Amino acid sequence: MDGVLLPKSWNVDQILDDLDQHGFAIINDAYPIDYLHALSAECLSHLNQFRNAAIQNGVISNIRSDHILWLNEELNIAQQHIQYLNALSAHLNQAFFLGIQEAEAHFACYNAGEFYALHRDNPQGKNGRIISTVYYLHEEWQDDWGGQLRLQDKNDVWQIIHPRPNRIAIFQSDLLHEVIQAKHQRLSITAWLRSGSPIW
Ligand code: OGA
Ligand code: MN
Repeated sequence: MDGVLLPKSWNVDQILDDLDQHGFAIINDAYPIDYLHALSAECLSHLNQFRNAAIQNGVISNIRSDHILWLNEELNIAQQHIQYLNALSAHLNQAFFLGIQEAEAHFACYNAGEFYALHRDNPQGKNGRIISTVYYLHEEWQDDWGGQLRLQDKNDVWQIIHPRPNRIAIFQSDLLHEVIQAKHQRLSITAWLRSGSPIW
């Protein structure tokens, strides 16, 4: 997006190169720590509005057990993250001609025991999702707490990504991935960078 600079910790050349070579990229220490605190607080203060992600249009699936809240303009702190993702999208479009036009995003909360089984975010290439991003915003995470993002990269190598606080995982939406059962509350924003309106 015009006029929005990326945070210093985002090495765009590295991100573009990793996406090109492997289909995924990681940003560690994505934001100043005050931002993480503010976003955690915003997320936690809305937990009572989160809905069971497995229920869509009244239909219950057993593929996932997390809870989500779609972002709206009133979630001011979260919107700043979306602004940065929009700025990143401009770089992605310039480098790879992806035609990203917008972002759709939700908070996600995995309580202990919750998971998201193997899936793709754009299974039939029809929902417009091109790039998936997940920002982890719990205040603490230990690597033996489960909750890993397991991702088959574009070279068919399985990658394990721990949901460390202040980390962003970025990957092609067509790649197979899952969230291993978490042992502690795991908070995130999932955002999809996508071309115009989806054809459902
Ligand atoms: C998703 C997803 C991965 C993660 O929300 O579709 O796969 O690490 N999230 O939370
Ligand atoms: Mn996914």
